[in-house]
Amino acid sequence: MKGLATWLAVALAAGLPGLVSGERLAKRDSSSTVTLTVNPSGGNASSPLLYGIMFEDMDHSGDGGIHGQLLQNNGFQGDNPGLTAYESIGDVTIAQDMDHPVSDAIHSSLQVAVNANATGFVGFANTGYDGVPVMKTTYLCEFWMLGNYSGNITLQLVGSSSGKVYASHNMTVVSSEEFTNHQTTFNSSASSDGNNEWRLLFDSALVPNGTLNFGLVQLFPPTFNTRSNGLREDVATFVDDIKPSFLRFPGGNNLEGLQIDTRWQWNLTIGPVVDRPGRESDWFYPNTDALGLDEYLWWCEDMNMEPVLAVWDGKSYGGILSGTDLQPYVDDILNELEYLLGPSNSTYGSLRAQNGRKDPWPVNYIEIGNEDDLTGGCDTYPDRFTQIYDAINGSYPNITLIASTITESCLPSDPPAGVVYDYHYYREPDALVAMFNLWDNQPRSQPVMVGEYGCRNTSATDGVFWSSILCSCSEAVHMIGLERNSDVVRMAAYAPLLQHFGYTSWSPTLFGFDSSPDSLTPGTSYYVQQMFSANRGTTILPVDTDADFGPVYWVASKNNTAYIVKLANYGAEKKTVHVNVPNTTTGVLERLSGSEYATNQPHEIKVRPNSKTVTSSQGNYTIHMDPWGVAVLSVTSGATALHFSLGAIIAWQICIFLPQLL
Ligand code: AHR
Repeated sequence: MKGLATWLAVALAAGLPGLVSGERLAKRDSSSTVTLTVNPSGGNASSPLLYGIMFEDMDHSGDGGIHGQLLQNNGFQGDNPGLTAYESIGDVTIAQDMDHPVSDAIHSSLQVAVNANATGFVGFANTGYDGVPVMKTTYLCEFWMLGNYSGNITLQLVGSSSGKVYASHNMTVVSSEEFTNHQTTFNSSASSDGNNEWRLLFDSALVPNGTLNFGLVQLFPPTFNTRSNGLREDVATFVDDIKPSFLRFPGGNNLEGLQIDTRWQWNLTIGPVVDRPGRESDWFYPNTDALGLDEYLWWCEDMNMEPVLAVWDGKSYGGILSGTDLQPYVDDILNELEYLLGPSNSTYGSLRAQNGRKDPWPVNYIEIGNEDDLTGGCDTYPDRFTQIYDAINGSYPNITLIASTITESCLPSDPPAGVVYDYHYYREPDALVAMFNLWDNQPRSQPVMVGEYGCRNTSATDGVFWSSILCSCSEAVHMIGLERNSDVVRMAAYAPLLQHFGYTSWSPTLFGFDSSPDSLTPGTSYYVQQMFSANRGTTILPVDTDADFGPVYWVASKNNTAYIVKLANYGAEKKTVHVNVPNTTTGVLERLSGSEYATNQPHEIKVRPNSKTVTSSQGNYTIHMDPWGVAVLSVTSGATALHFSLGAIIAWQICIFLPQLL
């Protein structure tokens, strides 16, 4: 922060220009009415990437989260997996068997020993991530099996307490003394809660006093865009609804590794899942890495997001490598880039093709490390950054490189032109609002990314909390500041994105869920992100007003079809905002408000935005802003509306009459 403060002081002293003329920052305005006139011309371009998302596996956001696979501990990964999530069924003994690895990557399997008195169908259950979501849908199930068996296997979805069977599916299996893969699909009815388990049962009579081994059990509900090894459709759709334009991945802390050896390693996250060893993550639980490098990129492709890939830069929590010690890892980054960008006949590009993606991935942004101003990274970052920058830029000059800090003292003294600086901040509400004008005096030649930000009320006693309307309003104020400066703030992402309620170690997140039906719960901040991201201008417009910023904040913009005015009232009094947008007649007003500390809690959505149609022959709109309220007004000019409706009528007429003419 010291470096940032110095830099800001220098920038301010240099009298660098603010953004949009006719506006000023001043003390809070006490009048109850604010009048804003949007100037339809002038202003500055807004980054098309401004609103995106940041993802790393934390709070079980990946495994047990957005990734579709529902069974836990399926590869016995991580430091101390034990029999987490497994239970025996019938007269059998289950154990993790290190002597029978499923593959070179999956070092063990589950041994099921049939006891002498066993009768009927026996086997094991997996209780998933705090239960298995059981929906009325079709599931894909896959497992590896070793041991002599020829007969029926029954797969079930069962209520753990109730014993109620929602799905029961028989398949014929022939298994030998080598691990073989088995797959099937089955339909299920829906459970009314999340307290469910998946079961695999076999006929004990066919294995008298014997053992069978099972490995890498997998259960998928429908996936987003029906991708194999894909994202959960319901969870991913919730993300897609934010309309994000970039994805920063795979971390965050989870890129770095608690130790150098447990860093996120791209090459261990590709190819068949049975070849991915997984790792103990930075958030103290195992990652299967089934959500791997290619899956992140399919995710980007399916949601039309620009990938922002972070590469490991020598810093882990357990040690830092630099100089010649770092060189092999720099070489590895180039291998990763050949995998992503190389032709399909190159060494690593051919591996990509083999893994299902012939064309290179469109990777245009790479971040070098994560938060190198922290955890001991600062001193060596200038050299590590330069070493990696030179290597990547030498081979891929068109890639935009991002430094993982904005702190001057942690950056090279003469950074290369075009590098984007990433700055992260989690703040209490007032502090976030105080940063409203943070970027107003940012030199326009030095682009920035806010790779992580959010309101975090660190005074919560239990450490687990949800955004309140107060917090979300402070984020809206801050985002108005970001948007006003979106010529130079290229990208910004709230973080973290999501949590599984049963495994929260960091909160708040934008949304969360668990294994029970309809558990997807947006925080109030989710709606602010959605409202701001779904309504974007390409140009930020000047606004004429006598009012000062605070408690009401605003930003106006336009795109090809609409004028957009975003408002936040960071105060306990109601405010009336008169907005004039010349030559507009109609549109939509979306508002979010609630009491200061109103929150959405798991399974309890109390606060939602509401929207209504607005009309005005003169382009005048009166917006009543509740205390701590957030609003987005999107209006169109009569000409635009006419243009659209005429276009629609012509297209409709062509559809109707063309077939008759042909
Ligand atoms: O978003 C949570 C954590 O906050 C990220 O992993 C890290 O980059 C930041 O410190």
